[in-house]
Amino acid sequence: MTLREALIEAANQLSSASLTPQLDARVLLAHVLGLASSQILARFNEHLEAEQAAAFQALIERRSALEPIAYLIGSREFYGLTFNVDQRVLVPRPDTEILVEQALTWIKQQNRPLVVADIGTGSGCIAVAVAKHAPNIKVYAVDLSPAALAVAQSNVERHGLHQQIQLLHGDGVSQLPEPIDLLLSNPPYTLLDEIDRGVRLHEPTLALDGGPDGLDCYRQLLPATATILRQGQPSAALFEIGAWQGPDVVALAQASFPHASIQLVRDLAARDRVVQIEQA
Ligand SMILES: C[S@@+](CC[C@H](N)C(=O)[O-])C[C@H]1O[C@@H](n2cnc3c(N)ncnc32)[C@H](O)[C@@H]1O
Repeated sequence: MTLREALIEAANQLSSASLTPQLDARVLLAHVLGLASSQILARFNEHLEAEQAAAFQALIERRSALEPIAYLIGSREFYGLTFNVDQRVLVPRPDTEILVEQALTWIKQQNRPLVVADIGTGSGCIAVAVAKHAPNIKVYAVDLSPAALAVAQSNVERHGLHQQIQLLHGDGVSQLPEPIDLLLSNPPYTLLDEIDRGVRLHEPTLALDGGPDGLDCYRQLLPATATILRQGQPSAALFEIGAWQGPDVVALAQASFPHASIQLVRDLAARDRVVQIEQA
């Protein structure tokens, strides 16, 4: 079977499972062949070996069962960096890049060494992206899931950041050993029965489930953050939110931080995406 024939057959197989069946098929075939997907075009008429065809078919079947492409190829780009990902962690989303952007802007304004925490680090994408661009900070990356922390560890090593990032197993801020200048978190905030079936079937429930109204983690984290943020120097906390949660999370933030400046930051699609809390 030629690459062209394999791609046509795979795209047909994926047409009910994916909105982008041709693209998915090409990315997966490139992964099996160890090529960039742009190289596939030039090899359309080459033949697949039996082992390659079997490996490709296995991936197409997993994709047909709605498994995310990132798990099938084992990696995902985030903030210009490549991260190892698998079923143990949420796939990093472009929506989260705005939180990294805001964090780096705040860090640059401080002009001093800082202690940063990333609560619910998952793959470690936020901690790694921030540390990579701010060599003067120390980061505690916390997760309740030991399995997720193993993936985060692999990404800390992949990006050579073991001297800057310390991984901690714990619930919320409970294991943080010192006051924090900047706390970052993309906590679970979705309503499980409202998300895509593929996400619900394959990504970790602990990374998604925000409780009955999606706000459980903010109710726990906001008061806890108020106890751990450094006093006497400027400090800040940035929380990713669902686009519909802005007013509720701002109200929770105001209750825990009555004297802070609190603003909603929008993403590139002009949806509310981050609640930013700053105290002098
Ligand atoms: C939405 S995912 C975010 C992962 C990653 N930071 C990202 O942005 O892609 C939430 C993460 O929080 C972790 N988590 C859930 N509840 C937690 C808790 N109480 N304390 C610490 N981590 C928690 C989950 O295991 C998951 O890795």
